[in-house]
Amino acid sequence: MRHFSVLEHLAGQLNPLCRVLDLDPAVPLDLLAGLLGPHGARSLAEPPAWPSDVADDHSPVEFSVAFNEAEPPALRILAEVPGIAPGVGANARAAHAFLAANAARFGLATTRLDAISDLFTAARPSGSFALWCSLVFRHGHAPEFKVYFNPEVAGIGRAPELVEEALRTIGLRDSYRTMLARSIRPGELGRRDRLAFFALDLHDGPQARVKLYVSHYDAGPAEVARAAAVVPGVAPDEVAEFCRAAGGPGRFDRRPLVGSYTLAGGAAQPVGYSVYVPIRDYVDDDLQARDRVAALVARHGFSPALLHRCVAAVSRRPLGAGVGLIAHVSLRLGPPRPGVTVYLSAEAYEVTPPRSVWVPAA
Ligand code: TRP
Repeated sequence: MRHFSVLEHLAGQLNPLCRVLDLDPAVPLDLLAGLLGPHGARSLAEPPAWPSDVADDHSPVEFSVAFNEAEPPALRILAEVPGIAPGVGANARAAHAFLAANAARFGLATTRLDAISDLFTAARPSGSFALWCSLVFRHGHAPEFKVYFNPEVAGIGRAPELVEEALRTIGLRDSYRTMLARSIRPGELGRRDRLAFFALDLHDGPQARVKLYVSHYDAGPAEVARAAAVVPGVAPDEVAEFCRAAGGPGRFDRRPLVGSYTLAGGAAQPVGYSVYVPIRDYVDDDLQARDRVAALVARHGFSPALLHRCVAAVSRRPLGAGVGLIAHVSLRLGPPRPGVTVYLSAEAYEVTPPRSVWVPAA
Protein backbone atom coordinates (compact mmCIF):
# COMPACT_ATOMS: atom_id res chain seq x y z
CA MET A 1 0.00 0.00 0.00
CA ARG A 2 1.27 3.47 -0.85
CA HIS A 3 1.21 5.94 2.04
CA PHE A 4 0.68 9.66 1.66
CA SER A 5 3.60 11.98 2.14
CA VAL A 6 3.48 14.62 4.89
CA LEU A 7 2.89 17.31 2.30
CA GLU A 8 0.12 15.35 0.55
CA HIS A 9 -1.71 14.85 3.84
CA LEU A 10 -1.42 18.50 4.92
CA ALA A 11 -2.18 19.90 1.46
CA GLY A 12 -5.23 17.63 1.40
CA GLN A 13 -6.49 19.55 4.45
CA LEU A 14 -5.26 23.03 3.56
CA ASN A 15 -6.85 23.00 0.12
CA PRO A 16 -10.44 22.33 1.28
CA LEU A 17 -9.96 24.69 4.26
CA CYS A 18 -9.11 27.46 1.80
CA ARG A 19 -12.17 26.63 -0.30
CA VAL A 20 -14.46 26.68 2.72
CA LEU A 21 -13.04 30.06 3.76
CA ASP A 22 -13.15 31.46 0.23
CA LEU A 23 -9.37 31.92 0.04
CA ASP A 24 -7.23 31.21 -3.02
CA PRO A 25 -5.21 28.11 -2.05
CA ALA A 26 -2.26 28.77 -4.42
CA VAL A 27 -0.06 30.86 -2.11
CA PRO A 28 -0.97 28.92 1.08
CA LEU A 29 -0.06 25.62 -0.61
CA ASP A 30 3.17 27.07 -1.92
CA LEU A 31 4.14 28.34 1.54
CA LEU A 32 3.18 25.03 3.17
CA ALA A 33 5.61 23.25 0.83
CA GLY A 34 8.26 25.85 1.73
CA LEU A 35 7.73 25.33 5.47
CA LEU A 36 8.22 21.58 5.17
CA GLY A 37 11.12 21.73 2.74
CA PRO A 38 12.54 18.34 1.71
CA HIS A 39 10.75 16.71 4.67
CA GLY A 40 7.43 17.24 2.89
CA ALA A 41 8.17 14.26 0.67
CA ARG A 42 8.65 11.95 3.64
CA SER A 43 6.17 9.09 3.85
CA LEU A 44 3.70 9.07 6.73
CA ALA A 45 4.57 5.40 7.18
CA GLU A 46 7.85 6.58 8.70
CA PRO A 47 7.94 8.26 12.10
CA PRO A 48 8.09 12.09 12.06
CA ALA A 49 11.51 13.50 11.24
CA TRP A 50 11.25 15.60 14.40
CA PRO A 51 8.84 15.17 17.36
CA SER A 52 7.45 18.69 17.11
CA ASP A 53 5.43 20.05 20.02
CA VAL A 54 3.29 22.07 17.63
CA ALA A 55 0.77 19.22 17.81
CA ASP A 56 0.22 16.22 20.08
CA ASP A 57 0.98 13.66 17.37
CA HIS A 58 4.15 15.57 16.33
CA SER A 59 2.72 16.82 13.05
CA PRO A 60 4.87 19.82 12.09
CA VAL A 61 1.82 21.99 11.41
CA GLU A 62 -1.40 23.05 13.16
CA PHE A 63 -4.26 24.85 11.42
CA SER A 64 -6.53 27.43 13.01
CA VAL A 65 -9.54 29.41 11.90
CA ALA A 66 -10.00 32.89 13.36
CA PHE A 67 -13.59 34.15 13.36
CA ASN A 68 -13.45 37.95 13.36
CA GLU A 69 -16.04 40.51 14.35
CA ALA A 70 -15.36 42.99 11.59
CA GLU A 71 -14.03 40.90 8.71
CA PRO A 72 -14.24 37.41 7.17
CA PRO A 73 -12.59 34.52 9.03
CA ALA A 74 -8.85 34.07 8.59
CA LEU A 75 -6.94 30.84 8.12
CA ARG A 76 -3.70 30.32 10.00
CA ILE A 77 -0.90 27.80 9.96
CA LEU A 78 1.42 27.31 12.92
CA ALA A 79 4.56 25.40 11.96
CA GLU A 80 7.89 24.21 13.16
CA VAL A 81 10.23 24.34 10.20
CA PRO A 82 12.29 21.15 10.30
CA GLY A 83 16.01 21.46 9.65
CA ILE A 84 17.67 19.02 7.28
CA ALA A 85 19.08 17.24 10.33
CA PRO A 86 16.34 18.29 12.75
CA GLY A 87 16.98 19.58 16.25
CA VAL A 88 15.85 22.56 18.31
CA GLY A 89 18.69 24.77 17.07
CA ALA A 90 18.66 23.41 13.52
CA ASN A 91 14.91 23.97 13.24
CA ALA A 92 15.29 27.58 14.40
CA ARG A 93 17.94 28.15 11.74
CA ALA A 94 15.66 26.54 9.15
CA ALA A 95 12.86 28.89 10.23
CA HIS A 96 15.16 31.89 9.75
CA ALA A 97 16.09 30.58 6.30
CA PHE A 98 12.40 30.15 5.42
CA LEU A 99 11.69 33.73 6.51
CA ALA A 100 14.70 35.09 4.63
CA ALA A 101 13.58 33.26 1.49
CA ASN A 102 10.15 34.92 1.71
CA ALA A 103 11.12 38.35 3.04
CA ALA A 104 11.36 40.16 -0.28
CA ARG A 105 8.35 38.46 -1.88
CA PHE A 106 6.02 39.32 0.99
CA GLY A 107 7.65 42.51 2.25
CA LEU A 108 8.42 41.15 5.71
CA ALA A 109 9.54 43.65 8.32
CA THR A 110 12.47 41.96 10.01
CA THR A 111 14.13 44.79 11.95
CA ARG A 112 12.67 43.76 15.31
CA LEU A 113 13.25 40.09 14.54
CA ASP A 114 16.91 40.79 13.83
CA ALA A 115 17.21 42.90 16.96
CA ILE A 116 15.98 40.23 19.40
CA SER A 117 16.70 36.85 17.75
CA ASP A 118 20.06 36.40 19.47
CA LEU A 119 18.45 36.82 22.89
CA PHE A 120 16.28 33.76 22.26
CA THR A 121 19.11 31.64 20.93
CA ALA A 122 21.05 29.29 23.20
CA ALA A 123 24.03 27.06 22.55
CA ARG A 124 22.20 24.25 24.35
CA PRO A 125 18.55 25.18 24.02
CA SER A 126 16.26 23.86 26.73
CA GLY A 127 12.65 22.98 26.10
CA SER A 128 11.08 21.53 22.99
CA PHE A 129 11.56 24.42 20.56
CA ALA A 130 13.28 27.76 20.01
CA LEU A 131 11.35 29.32 17.14
CA TRP A 132 8.04 28.57 15.46
CA CYS A 133 6.46 30.40 12.53
CA SER A 134 2.90 31.19 11.73
CA LEU A 135 1.20 32.35 8.57
CA VAL A 136 -2.08 34.21 8.49
CA PHE A 137 -4.25 34.27 5.39
CA ARG A 138 -6.91 36.98 5.35
CA HIS A 139 -9.32 37.52 2.53
CA GLY A 140 -7.98 40.14 0.12
CA HIS A 141 -4.64 40.53 1.94
CA ALA A 142 -1.13 39.27 1.34
CA PRO A 143 -0.17 36.57 3.85
CA GLU A 144 1.12 37.81 7.19
CA PHE A 145 4.01 36.14 9.00
CA LYS A 146 4.66 35.81 12.72
CA VAL A 147 7.29 34.16 14.82
CA TYR A 148 7.03 32.58 18.26
CA PHE A 149 10.15 32.52 20.41
CA ASN A 150 10.55 30.26 23.42
CA PRO A 151 11.25 32.54 26.42
CA GLU A 152 12.54 29.52 28.35
CA VAL A 153 15.15 28.61 25.72
CA ALA A 154 18.00 29.38 28.15
CA GLY A 155 16.20 27.78 31.09
CA ILE A 156 12.97 28.49 32.95
CA GLY A 157 14.70 30.79 35.43
CA ARG A 158 16.09 33.09 32.76
CA ALA A 159 12.80 33.62 30.92
CA PRO A 160 11.71 36.82 32.74
CA GLU A 161 15.01 38.61 32.07
CA LEU A 162 15.15 37.50 28.42
CA VAL A 163 11.64 38.79 27.85
CA GLU A 164 12.43 42.02 29.69
CA GLU A 165 15.55 42.56 27.60
CA ALA A 166 13.69 41.83 24.35
CA LEU A 167 10.93 44.24 25.26
CA ARG A 168 13.43 46.90 26.30
CA THR A 169 15.07 46.51 22.88
CA ILE A 170 11.71 47.01 21.18
CA GLY A 171 10.64 49.76 23.57
CA LEU A 172 7.79 47.96 25.30
CA ARG A 173 9.14 47.32 28.77
CA ASP A 174 6.66 49.43 30.73
CA SER A 175 3.54 47.49 29.86
CA TYR A 176 5.39 44.24 30.55
CA ARG A 177 6.10 45.29 34.13
CA THR A 178 2.46 46.16 34.75
CA MET A 179 1.41 42.87 33.20
CA LEU A 180 3.81 40.75 35.25
CA ALA A 181 2.94 42.44 38.50
CA ARG A 182 -0.76 41.83 38.10
CA SER A 183 -1.20 38.65 36.12
CA ILE A 184 1.20 36.22 37.76
CA ARG A 185 -0.02 34.45 40.89
CA PRO A 186 2.17 35.42 43.87
CA GLY A 187 5.43 33.45 43.87
CA GLU A 188 4.38 31.39 40.84
CA LEU A 189 6.52 32.89 38.06
CA GLY A 190 8.54 30.00 36.62
CA ARG A 191 6.51 27.57 38.68
CA ARG A 192 2.78 27.33 37.95
CA ASP A 193 2.77 30.49 35.82
CA ARG A 194 5.19 30.17 32.92
CA LEU A 195 6.24 32.51 30.13
CA ALA A 196 5.33 30.24 27.22
CA PHE A 197 5.73 32.20 23.97
CA PHE A 198 6.98 35.58 22.79
CA ALA A 199 5.28 36.38 19.49
CA LEU A 200 6.31 39.00 16.99
CA ASP A 201 4.47 40.17 13.86
CA LEU A 202 6.72 40.54 10.84
CA HIS A 203 4.82 43.38 9.25
CA ASP A 204 4.87 47.11 9.78
CA GLY A 205 1.66 47.88 11.56
CA PRO A 206 0.76 51.38 12.71
CA GLN A 207 2.24 50.28 16.03
CA ALA A 208 4.79 47.65 16.93
CA ARG A 209 2.83 44.80 18.48
CA VAL A 210 4.16 41.91 20.47
CA LYS A 211 2.24 39.13 22.22
CA LEU A 212 3.40 37.51 25.40
CA TYR A 213 1.83 34.18 26.41
CA VAL A 214 1.54 32.94 29.98
CA SER A 215 0.58 29.33 30.81
CA HIS A 216 -1.37 29.08 34.05
CA TYR A 217 -0.94 25.53 35.32
CA ASP A 218 -3.57 24.16 37.66
CA ALA A 219 -5.64 27.34 37.55
CA GLY A 220 -9.36 27.92 37.71
CA PRO A 221 -11.40 30.17 35.41
CA ALA A 222 -11.62 32.86 38.11
CA GLU A 223 -7.84 33.02 38.52
CA VAL A 224 -7.30 33.41 34.81
CA ALA A 225 -10.03 36.05 34.68
CA ARG A 226 -8.13 37.95 37.37
CA ALA A 227 -4.96 37.75 35.26
CA ALA A 228 -6.91 39.12 32.28
CA ALA A 229 -8.23 42.07 34.27
CA VAL A 230 -4.91 43.93 33.93
CA VAL A 231 -5.91 44.74 30.35
CA PRO A 232 -8.14 47.83 30.14
CA GLY A 233 -11.55 47.07 28.65
CA VAL A 234 -11.35 43.32 29.21
CA ALA A 235 -14.35 42.00 31.17
CA PRO A 236 -13.02 39.32 33.54
CA ASP A 237 -16.43 37.63 33.72
CA GLU A 238 -16.41 37.11 29.98
CA VAL A 239 -13.04 35.35 30.20
CA ALA A 240 -14.15 33.09 33.07
CA GLU A 241 -17.41 32.27 31.33
CA PHE A 242 -15.59 31.33 28.12
CA CYS A 243 -13.24 28.98 30.03
CA ARG A 244 -16.18 27.29 31.75
CA ALA A 245 -18.15 26.91 28.54
CA ALA A 246 -15.19 25.35 26.74
CA GLY A 247 -13.64 23.30 29.51
CA GLY A 248 -16.05 22.97 32.38
CA PRO A 249 -16.29 24.63 35.78
CA GLY A 250 -13.39 23.05 37.66
CA ARG A 251 -9.66 23.67 37.80
CA PHE A 252 -7.70 23.05 34.64
CA ASP A 253 -5.36 20.42 36.01
CA ARG A 254 -4.37 18.80 32.72
CA ARG A 255 -2.94 21.05 29.98
CA PRO A 256 -2.95 24.64 31.20
CA LEU A 257 -5.16 27.57 30.39
CA VAL A 258 -3.04 30.10 28.51
CA GLY A 259 -3.43 33.87 28.34
CA SER A 260 -1.75 36.21 25.88
CA TYR A 261 -1.12 39.89 26.30
CA THR A 262 -0.80 42.23 23.35
CA LEU A 263 1.77 44.90 24.09
CA ALA A 264 1.92 48.06 22.01
CA GLY A 265 4.19 51.07 21.94
CA GLY A 266 3.27 54.04 24.10
CA ALA A 267 0.87 52.13 26.34
CA ALA A 268 1.57 51.58 30.04
CA GLN A 269 -0.69 48.54 30.07
CA PRO A 270 -1.30 45.73 27.57
CA VAL A 271 -3.86 46.67 24.92
CA GLY A 272 -5.37 43.27 24.16
CA TYR A 273 -5.90 39.87 25.73
CA SER A 274 -6.73 36.37 24.56
CA VAL A 275 -7.45 33.22 26.52
CA TYR A 276 -6.72 29.76 25.07
CA VAL A 277 -8.53 26.70 26.42
CA PRO A 278 -6.89 23.31 25.66
CA ILE A 279 -10.33 21.84 25.15
CA ARG A 280 -9.01 18.42 24.09
CA ASP A 281 -8.05 17.61 27.68
CA TYR A 282 -11.49 18.45 29.02
CA VAL A 283 -13.79 16.51 26.69
CA ASP A 284 -14.35 12.82 25.96
CA ASP A 285 -14.15 13.08 22.18
CA ASP A 286 -14.23 15.53 19.30
CA LEU A 287 -17.98 15.31 18.94
CA GLN A 288 -18.30 16.84 22.38
CA ALA A 289 -15.54 19.35 21.58
CA ARG A 290 -17.23 20.34 18.35
CA ASP A 291 -20.60 20.83 20.02
CA ARG A 292 -19.11 23.02 22.74
CA VAL A 293 -17.17 25.07 20.23
CA ALA A 294 -20.19 25.40 17.94
CA ALA A 295 -22.16 26.82 20.88
CA LEU A 296 -19.35 29.29 21.67
CA VAL A 297 -19.02 30.33 18.04
CA ALA A 298 -22.77 30.94 17.85
CA ARG A 299 -22.83 32.84 21.14
CA HIS A 300 -20.21 35.22 19.80
CA GLY A 301 -22.21 35.84 16.65
CA PHE A 302 -20.34 33.59 14.20
CA SER A 303 -21.56 30.76 11.98
CA PRO A 304 -21.58 27.23 13.44
CA ALA A 305 -22.22 25.92 9.92
CA LEU A 306 -18.93 27.38 8.79
CA LEU A 307 -17.21 25.80 11.78
CA HIS A 308 -18.65 22.42 10.81
CA ARG A 309 -17.34 22.80 7.27
CA CYS A 310 -13.85 23.71 8.55
CA VAL A 311 -13.81 20.69 10.86
CA ALA A 312 -14.96 18.45 8.00
CA ALA A 313 -12.19 19.81 5.76
CA VAL A 314 -9.52 18.66 8.22
CA SER A 315 -10.94 15.51 9.80
CA ARG A 316 -10.28 12.11 8.30
CA ARG A 317 -12.39 10.09 10.77
CA PRO A 318 -15.71 10.20 12.65
CA LEU A 319 -15.53 12.90 15.34
CA GLY A 320 -16.52 10.44 18.05
CA ALA A 321 -13.62 8.15 17.15
CA GLY A 322 -10.90 10.33 18.67
CA VAL A 323 -10.06 13.37 20.73
CA GLY A 324 -7.72 16.27 19.93
CA LEU A 325 -8.75 17.20 16.41
CA ILE A 326 -10.02 20.37 18.08
CA ALA A 327 -6.97 21.17 20.19
CA HIS A 328 -7.67 24.64 21.57
CA VAL A 329 -10.36 27.27 21.36
CA SER A 330 -9.55 30.88 22.13
CA LEU A 331 -11.35 34.13 22.79
CA ARG A 332 -9.65 37.30 21.53
CA LEU A 333 -10.55 40.52 23.29
CA GLY A 334 -9.52 44.03 22.27
CA PRO A 335 -7.58 45.24 19.25
CA PRO A 336 -6.61 44.47 16.61
CA ARG A 337 -9.31 41.86 15.89
CA PRO A 338 -11.69 40.52 18.53
CA GLY A 339 -13.24 37.12 17.93
CA VAL A 340 -12.97 33.37 18.49
CA THR A 341 -10.22 31.08 17.12
CA VAL A 342 -10.51 27.31 16.71
CA TYR A 343 -7.31 25.23 16.48
CA LEU A 344 -7.49 22.12 14.30
CA SER A 345 -4.92 19.32 14.48
CA ALA A 346 -3.64 17.78 11.29
CA GLU A 347 -3.46 14.29 12.88
CA ALA A 348 -1.00 13.33 10.16
CA TYR A 349 0.62 10.67 12.35
CA GLU A 350 -1.80 9.69 15.02
CA VAL A 351 -5.29 10.02 16.46
CA THR A 352 -5.69 10.07 20.23
CA PRO A 353 -8.36 7.52 21.18
CA PRO A 354 -11.56 8.93 22.71
CA ARG A 355 -11.89 8.79 26.51
CA SER A 356 -15.33 7.29 26.54
CA VAL A 357 -15.70 3.88 25.02
CA TRP A 358 -19.11 2.31 24.85
CA VAL A 359 -18.87 -1.22 26.14
CA PRO A 360 -21.84 -3.54 25.59
CA ALA A 361 -23.20 -5.18 28.73
CA ALA A 362 -22.16 -8.80 29.13
N1 TRP B 1 0.86 21.95 21.07
C1 TRP B 1 1.33 22.91 22.05
C2 TRP B 1 0.33 23.02 23.20
O1 TRP B 1 -0.77 22.59 23.08
C3 TRP B 1 1.61 24.28 21.46
C4 TRP B 1 0.43 24.97 20.87
C5 TRP B 1 0.00 24.85 19.58
C6 TRP B 1 -0.43 25.90 21.51
N2 TRP B 1 -1.11 25.67 19.39
C7 TRP B 1 -1.38 26.32 20.54
C8 TRP B 1 -0.49 26.44 22.81
C9 TRP B 1 -2.42 27.23 20.86
C10 TRP B 1 -1.49 27.34 23.11
C11 TRP B 1 -2.45 27.73 22.15
O2 TRP B 1 0.69 23.57 24.22
